[in-house]
Amino acid sequence: MVNFQWLVLPLVVTLSCFSFCKGGSVSYDSNAIIINGERRVIFSGSIHYPRSTEAMWPNLIQKAKDGELDAIETYIFWDRHEPQRRKYDFSGHLNFIKFFQLVQEAGLYVVMRIGPYVCGEWNYGGFPLWLHNMPGIQLRTDNQVYKNEMQTFTTKIVNMCKQANLFASQGGPIILAQIENEYGNVITPYGNAGKTYINWCAQMAESLNIGVTWIMCQQSDAPQPIINTCNGFYCDNFSPNNPKSPKMFTENWVGWFKKWGDKDPYRSAEDVAFSVARFFQSGGVFNNYYMYHGGTNFGRTSGGPFITTSYDYNAPLDEYGNMNQPKWRHLKQLHESIKMGEKILTNGTRSDQKFGSFITLTKFSNPTVGERFCFLSNTDASNDATIDLQADGKYFVPAWSVSILNGCNKELFNTAKINSQTSMFVKVQNEKENAQLSWVWAPEPMRDTLQGKGTFNANLLLEQKGTTVDFSDYLWYMTNVETNSTSSLQNVTLQVNTKGHVLHAFVNRRYIGSQWGSNGQSFVFEKPILLKVGTNTITLLSATVGLKNYDAFYDTVPTGIDGGPIYLIGDGNVTTDLSSNLWSYKVGLNGEIKQLYNPMFSQRTKWSTLNKKSIGRRMTWYKTSFKTPSGIDPVTFDMQGMGKGQAWVNGQSIGRFWPSFIAGNDSCSATCDYRGAYDPSKCVGNCGNPSQRWYHVSRSFLSNDTNTLFLFEEIGGNPQQVIVQTITIGTICGNANDGSTLELSCQGGHIISEIQFASYGNPEGKCGSFKKGSWDVSNSALLVEKTCIRMENCSIDVSAKSFGLGNATNLSARLAVQALCSKNRMM
Ligand code: GAL
Repeated sequence: MVNFQWLVLPLVVTLSCFSFCKGGSVSYDSNAIIINGERRVIFSGSIHYPRSTEAMWPNLIQKAKDGELDAIETYIFWDRHEPQRRKYDFSGHLNFIKFFQLVQEAGLYVVMRIGPYVCGEWNYGGFPLWLHNMPGIQLRTDNQVYKNEMQTFTTKIVNMCKQANLFASQGGPIILAQIENEYGNVITPYGNAGKTYINWCAQMAESLNIGVTWIMCQQSDAPQPIINTCNGFYCDNFSPNNPKSPKMFTENWVGWFKKWGDKDPYRSAEDVAFSVARFFQSGGVFNNYYMYHGGTNFGRTSGGPFITTSYDYNAPLDEYGNMNQPKWRHLKQLHESIKMGEKILTNGTRSDQKFGSFITLTKFSNPTVGERFCFLSNTDASNDATIDLQADGKYFVPAWSVSILNGCNKELFNTAKINSQTSMFVKVQNEKENAQLSWVWAPEPMRDTLQGKGTFNANLLLEQKGTTVDFSDYLWYMTNVETNSTSSLQNVTLQVNTKGHVLHAFVNRRYIGSQWGSNGQSFVFEKPILLKVGTNTITLLSATVGLKNYDAFYDTVPTGIDGGPIYLIGDGNVTTDLSSNLWSYKVGLNGEIKQLYNPMFSQRTKWSTLNKKSIGRRMTWYKTSFKTPSGIDPVTFDMQGMGKGQAWVNGQSIGRFWPSFIAGNDSCSATCDYRGAYDPSKCVGNCGNPSQRWYHVSRSFLSNDTNTLFLFEEIGGNPQQVIVQTITIGTICGNANDGSTLELSCQGGHIISEIQFASYGNPEGKCGSFKKGSWDVSNSALLVEKTCIRMENCSIDVSAKSFGLGNATNLSARLAVQALCSKNRMM
């Protein structure tokens, strides 16, 4: 038996209250976050405000609150707020002050991760591109130019929060603030300058006097008084670098992000709950889900290379803001259970008792009040166990699970026993007018670029992001080659060495080919071309697909053709190096410059009715109008049939699309064993399908009636296959064990219209294929119908008594229900 007496030493670090302080206080010790004197464990969830829209915020926050979270965590996105140096934007869904105020109104706290480097699968890790181009700058190191900019931005954000009284010390919701992000993971290559930089970050942050604690994640050498925290799939083995600091899990990855060409990652509710329970069992006091709502990378905000537009993350709230069941409710039940022990967890002594190599009973007890609270874990990835705790009872603990025992003698929750519903969403087309969209098209105007005419010249092959300053994904590289001997016209190959991410080549106005590197890496493009006597024009269009966001010196990784080399390889391997030719450049597409995607300006272009020739055509703009689907269900576009490009609704970019990029056909399986350590290659789905087929159109982008959808298609697609749909809850299933409550819920104004299956007994199978077992209560369905029909939510007490079997015990029964949700016609 091990005793951790030091955990209860009343070494409370209280942050000083500064002159602006009119509000509460946040302090901590090794086993509590202390808010206004109350000793707390905190459940938090990441919701990044620009990955949804203002109109979605209240609902997302409410669902986080209903899920028993205490706090919302978000990064601050520098590139969006300061797109040009000292020109700020805090409007619309960038209004983070309003977001924080809404969180506070809902009674939740905020964990503000300023960064301002944020990683986050966000374009260029959240740094604005103008920063990259400042003379003498080096990012994320001991460099004065960079540090000045970082300090200016950080100070601005802090001052905005102070002005709005948002720090807890002022009575506001912000209880913790983060500076930098996982610098410890990459510090070594930065050498001594890295060490100096992280110390500077700490001092700079502390000098801002925010009155709440600063944290650094993945920074084992975080300078005091900054608390170092852990990110990962599991953090039970983590200890902060100061025993007086609370043990905090700032990113518990609930799933994973997706790249173009990837399958859908899936992390089971059982495993996430296991990770959280293990964390609290081992003395954790703060757990944040990364992400609680992942959302959408609207516009060109996705990082990279090759991060998809959807940032669903398999989070408890899906991309559209719907509850992802059973994850959402299973975690809610977990939070409720752990909170039952909050007083003892934050005031008690912790001791471990081992039963063999895999079973641990952790007891939190508070001798003064004589209370106990226990976690009983089984970390064996394959064997279930039954543990006899003598007077405290016998417990069945499935493999890879944790039981939470109130008073150490009553099972409140087990991470592997799911007593919550599964929901299946369906996509429907509900407006007759949208059944057949009528399309017009216009070619991308390329006369100038195909003739080699750009807007500036250079005798070298430029790096792309530094040249475009990320105004656009596209950069044109054009040059002329003079040929006078007929023999050199034969068998010529154009070879372009590019750093990526995508290349389209034209010679003498004719399309030659396109290519992209796997995962957005560098590649060599090689194609035979036909030259003519006289002047030949080579036109290369290079496209980026999200700028790199992670790794040491990631910001310096080149994009585009950057130095090439570019060769013409003729007969007998005679090579002409074109790399230092005179190259003409143009940033962006003419269609982008003319804003063809904007209904205000698109009239200036001639649009033609769609015909055979315009389907499957490269470098083409398409336009259609559609009616706003009625109701409140989220709206999505099925883009199957399209190639690669970008889409806009009423002038708002809904992101890049690339449905022609198909996910690999291997390693998907219908079932997922939650047992054993998770990694993103485990439990994947969607094999052999477009890695992203559906694209979220936030309802706030839509008008009351008719809308315009614009598509820019780069490689060829068929817009006639595009469908406007809404996402609605279809079937829900529940499966709960005796002694629990089964809560069923249709969301968004839908009600339970039919009970398709219900059996209290020993039913078999799973949602979609439930079957009665060897026995059940014959009128189970009738009893469920009585409670649930026509209800949006219902709860059923799963016990012998409610199913008419009196006080029968030891039945080991469970209830399985499958129900249908339909629109409430009364609404
Ligand atoms: C972390 C990082 C997050 C996010 C996550 C993966 O390393 O801090 O910003 O990138 O990985 O989703």
